[in-house]
Formats: sequence, C-alpha cells, structure tokens
Amino acid sequence: MKGVILAGGLGTRLLPMTRVTNKHLLPVYDRPMIYFPLQQMVAAGLTEILLVTGGNSAGDFLRLLGNGKEFGLKHLHYTYQEGEGGIAEALGLAEHFADGGPLCVILGDNLFQEPLAPYVQAYRDHLSREGRGAMILLKEVEDAHRFGVVELQDGRLVRIVEKPSRPPSNLAVTGCYFYDGEVFEIIRGLRPSERGELEITDVNNAYIARGTMTYRVLQGWWTDAGTVPSLFRAAQLVAQDRQNPILNPGGR
Ligand code: G1P
Repeated sequence: MKGVILAGGLGTRLLPMTRVTNKHLLPVYDRPMIYFPLQQMVAAGLTEILLVTGGNSAGDFLRLLGNGKEFGLKHLHYTYQEGEGGIAEALGLAEHFADGGPLCVILGDNLFQEPLAPYVQAYRDHLSREGRGAMILLKEVEDAHRFGVVELQDGRLVRIVEKPSRPPSNLAVTGCYFYDGEVFEIIRGLRPSERGELEITDVNNAYIARGTMTYRVLQGWWTDAGTVPSLFRAAQLVAQDRQNPILNPGGR
C-alpha cells in the first residue's frame, strides 16, 4: 500500500498566519504540522509516500523534508496542485503514483493519537476478503457540524453529509481514508460542489452507493488543525502526550 498526504489549499481559515506560508508548515507544539501525517505513515510501515502540495511556499516542503531521510525514508514523492480544486481533485493527481494499487490518504492538517498501523492492516484484510472497496476512520465528536458526518442504520453506512447544520450522528469522518484503484474513476465522474471544489465526501458517498465502503471508529483523540481553535487544541493535545511517560517512554 502506498501513502498520499494532501497538503495543498490556501488555508484561508488560518489567515493571516497563512498569508506567506503554507498551513501545513505551521507549528503544532514542537514540530511543523506536516510531520504528523508523515510520521504516522512511516510508523505504519508505508515507504512509498506522495506529498500533494499547492498554494503558498510549496518549495519550502522540499527544503523541510527533502527525500524524507529524517523520517527513515529513501525517497519522498512530490506533486503540485494548481488552484483550489478541492481535496478530491488533489487526490486525483496521485493516479499515476498509485498505479492501480491501494492507497492510504491522510489530510495534512489531521492529527491522530493512535498509531494507524492496525487500520492499515484492517484495510489490507478487507481487500483480501472482498477484493475491492474503501475504508474510512470515524471519531465521536461534540462539534460534528464542522466535518463530514455519517448517517448509520443498524451500524451500516447510509451516507455522509458534509458540514450539516443538523448532524445525523456525532461520528465525524476523519481525514484518513483507504481507497482501491476505483477511486480515480470515481473522481473523474465528480461535479464541483457549491463551493466549486471536488469533495472527498462525494468520493466516499460513491463507495457507499456501491456498497463497498467500510469503517472503523477511533478510540484515541483526533483533531484537525485547520482553524485557529483547532490548531490551538492540536498543540495542547500534542503537548499533553509529550508529557505522558507512557506514550513517551524515552522523553520526546
Ligand atoms: C475535510 C472534509 C471533511 C472531513 C474533514 C476532516 O473538511 O471535507 O469531510 O471531516 O476534512 O478534517 P475541510 O477541513 O476541508 O473543511
């Protein structure tokens, strides 16, 4: 399985901090935001990783991460998203890289407390059982209206609603997705949403409509860091964990 980190966009919800730099280069407590998804992927055993960037300071990713040596990688792949076409459009740029194989996709502003390795394995098992399909990770939240939210019926996925004013559940769709090669055909069939973007929620709903989407619910904390309050919260959560001797036996 290969990994794709989506780190484009203009980060307008973090202005003026994102006026001259990319959101994913901003610090979350003790390191740049982009380190978190990258470290998660490497810890989960993924070695072929593509970073999709865009917007401001795209060249700074190369200066910061290089070939990923600091993370134990031999090589890091990069591509560039022009404009603000949305998360699904950014993912579409990974088609050549994916080469028909399965992908683990993480949004560059998402932080997960839990290691993702068990979910990578769960998706591998799912694929070898079913032969196809996708998997999303959900998390119970108090502010579901800020996210994609699932509607479940007897534990089965009915649909996902993006930023609903009246959320059908308190289970948010986090920014970690597992897809098979069908994802690119689905992206090609998408129409832009009202905000003019290709939405990842429409991709996930297409899998649900095909009956090939499964999910897991996270136990540890999860947060995005794309708004001022969530960036602050992310730093607090990371700081707490850094001070936790169980999670950090050797210090930092
Ligand atoms: C995106 C997705 C949303 C998801 C969220 C997770 O929202 O559209 O479904 O719940 O990421 O961080 P955005 O942060 O782009 O508004």
